[in-house]
Parts: sequence; C-alpha cells; structure tokens
Amino acid sequence: MYAKSAAAPLTLPDLHRRKRDGEKIVCVTAYEASIAARVDEAGVDLVLVGDSLGMVVQGHASTLPVTMDAMVYHTACVARGLRRAFLVADLPFMAFRDVPTAFANATRLVAEGGAAMVKLEGADWVCEIISALTSREIPVCAHLGLTPQSINRLGGYRVQGRETEAAERLRADARAVQDAGAQLLVLECVPSALAQAITRELHIPVIGIGAGVDCDGQVLVMHDLLGITPGKRPRFSKDFLAGSASVVDAIAAYARAVRAGEFPGPEHSY
Ligand code: KIV
Repeated sequence: MYAKSAAAPLTLPDLHRRKRDGEKIVCVTAYEASIAARVDEAGVDLVLVGDSLGMVVQGHASTLPVTMDAMVYHTACVARGLRRAFLVADLPFMAFRDVPTAFANATRLVAEGGAAMVKLEGADWVCEIISALTSREIPVCAHLGLTPQSINRLGGYRVQGRETEAAERLRADARAVQDAGAQLLVLECVPSALAQAITRELHIPVIGIGAGVDCDGQVLVMHDLLGITPGKRPRFSKDFLAGSASVVDAIAAYARAVRAGEFPGPEHSY
C-alpha cells in the first residue's frame, strides 16, 4: 500500500547508540496506518501503539478496558504504515498478570502485530515478567512514574515521585527494571530533576512524557500533539498543529523541537 522509503529500519542497538551519543530519540503514539506513514515521513524514530487508544480512539475514561484483540489489531494497522521507525506496542491491563499469559500476549503483539518490542507498566512483581520475556527474545520497554493502569490505586492522573521517599522508590524501581532486562524505559509525569537523575543513572534510553527535557527522548500521544484530545490539555503536551501547515509538518515540528532540546519547556514540565 505504501511506497518503501530508502531509509533502513531503526533497531534497538540504534536507539541505544543514540543515548551513548547524546542524540535525542523522538517517539509518538499511533493507532492506524495512514498516520503511521505520516509519522515515518516526518522522521520519527520510535512509534508506540499505546493503550492510550482506549481513551483517545475508543472514548473510554481510562485505559483499563483495552483488550489484547484491540492492541493486536491497531499494532498490525500501524506496522503496515511504517517503514523506518521502531515499533513498540503496549501490553494492556492484566495482559501480563503472570508469565504464561505475558508470553502468549507478547507473542501476539510481535508475531501478529509486527511489534519489535512490548511495553508494560510497573516494577516489583513485573520484574519477573520482564526477565522472562527478555530472556526469550521479546524486548521490553518498562513504564514507571504515572502508570495509567494503576489509576484505581493512584486515585488520579497526578505527578509521581514528588516526595523524597517516593522519588527514592522510583529510582530503585528504574534500576530494578533495567536489571530485569528492560531495554527502554518510559517515565511519565515525574519531576524533571528526578527524571534527569534516573536518565543519568541508567544505561538504557529513558523516554519521558511530562518528565522534563533531560530524558534521552520524548513521547507524546498523537492526539495531544495534534491538539484534538477532547477535554483539558495535559500540561506536558503541546499542540504542534497550531502554526503548522499539515499533519506531517506538525509531527516534523515536534521532532525538530525534541532534537533541539526545545521541547518540553519548563511550562510543560514539573
Ligand atoms: O499508552 C500510551 O500512549 C503511553 C504513553 C503515554 C507513554 O503509555
């Protein structure tokens, strides 16, 4: 359906090299083929099929109702639109509750969906799952800080790690997921200074969202980037379509701003 671009597909070693070389990694979410093709065209490095699709595509109040079938369907749609970007897909709520379930569901995202890596939220017991998947050739991106699948425990979408004890726990969790074998880490909604410390401490790339400018890369939900998310705009997001001539221009403007260290600014950070 889509013409092949000349650029070779990005790999995990390429992303790790970016961290070592101090080059920012640009990531955005996508849920379907046409936008995925535009994302590729705009030069984005990493595309995440997030379970945020439950909110921005399906209209749910949280990510909890998202099913594996929905994740596989949207991941396969996105994979068909991409030629160069590295594709990561979320394991949704309870899809990694034990090792056999995680194996079965992660395999679906890779084999049926075409993902190169799966993302899962949390530390503690989740480290056993990370270790099991990575030791069987399924690369894992961990996700810490504000973990939306924990919304019923957290009680709201709030900044995490503000107090000293919580910050220390987050630092320990970040080391633990890396030690368990995670090869990327998403840090969501944490104070910039804490995200900077974690980014320096880890050898794996840290991709921030609401985590300040010093992470190794940034991720935004596509609907936030295009300013079309219904309701209140999260502080950490920016409408890049405002002032851009097209969707590709908006995504390219985001990519340029991340690579130049101009996004997120202090007004998007905590
Ligand atoms: O589901 C998602 O889109 C995510 C990003 C916000 C990081 O996890």
